[in-house]
Amino acid sequence: TAPILRALSDLRDLTRPFTRAGETIGVVPTMGALHDGHLSLVAAAKARCDRVIVTIFVNPKQFNNPEDLKNYPRTEVEDARKLERFGVDALWVPDGDQMYPAHFATTVSVSGLTDVMEGAWRPGHFDGVATVVTKLFTQTAATDAFFGEKDFQQFMVVRRMARDLDIPITVHGCPTIRDIDGLALSSRNLLLSDRARTKAPVLFEEMEKIAEGLRAGDAFAGLQEQAKARLERAGFTGVDYLDLRAQDDLAALTTPTRPARLFAAAWLAGVRLIDNIAVD
Ligand code: PAJ
Repeated sequence: TAPILRALSDLRDLTRPFTRAGETIGVVPTMGALHDGHLSLVAAAKARCDRVIVTIFVNPKQFNNPEDLKNYPRTEVEDARKLERFGVDALWVPDGDQMYPAHFATTVSVSGLTDVMEGAWRPGHFDGVATVVTKLFTQTAATDAFFGEKDFQQFMVVRRMARDLDIPITVHGCPTIRDIDGLALSSRNLLLSDRARTKAPVLFEEMEKIAEGLRAGDAFAGLQEQAKARLERAGFTGVDYLDLRAQDDLAALTTPTRPARLFAAAWLAGVRLIDNIAVD
């Protein structure tokens, strides 16, 4: 079974010979509470790289809401067990002081892409993500990183950051893994009551309906309006956004004149669900 490393010196001792031998190192950054979405990234990393490091760190800097941080599921023993069959080289599980020692003073901030959606609704969130991911990339000396399209905006922000800072790493995006009823897998789904869980797939269903409507030539504004109304009828208590945006720069669109995605964030029983799908 893979060693669980908690000190940076141990991680460096592990990766030094990999790098010397010219091996590729894949990193899969996570906050734990691993599900099949995370595990699909691990499988992609194993398929592509000589070495694989999975990181588990619940990053306080990216939580704009203290309650959310407190309630975030933590299941390290289970997580390690789920990773056993993949034969990864290490779990990197730094503690808070290791990642952010006293006097830590640096923030990595990506502009533009972070102005909208998650960036607009969760102030400081992407600064926290970009800062921790920069550290994870340099700590692990990874040549490749694997991110889920589930958090498509995050994937774009991280890729921009790595390019802008000349970090020699390729950032790969991997498809969203869904439950059989369509709900995108997410660690926060664990926080849904049984009753709320039965309503949760309505978010994906409504997004699919919008995509279908767009294919049929319907105007986006009307489709968006109807979807919001139906979400509220299904028990969603608020829709932060339900946007049609260009895939390459996240510019808002009214018709998918270039490769586009639908993005949504909505509240169900106190849990904030996000999802996105491609529209063709
Ligand atoms: P976390 O939410 O644990 O997600 C870790 C990775 O798993 C992210 O790249 C995310 O997009 C991916 N992922 C989550 N659900 C998925 C699904 N259903 N299908 C495919 N991939 C999925 O995202 C974070 O952690 C953090 O922001 C992090 C990048 C680790 C920085 O702290």
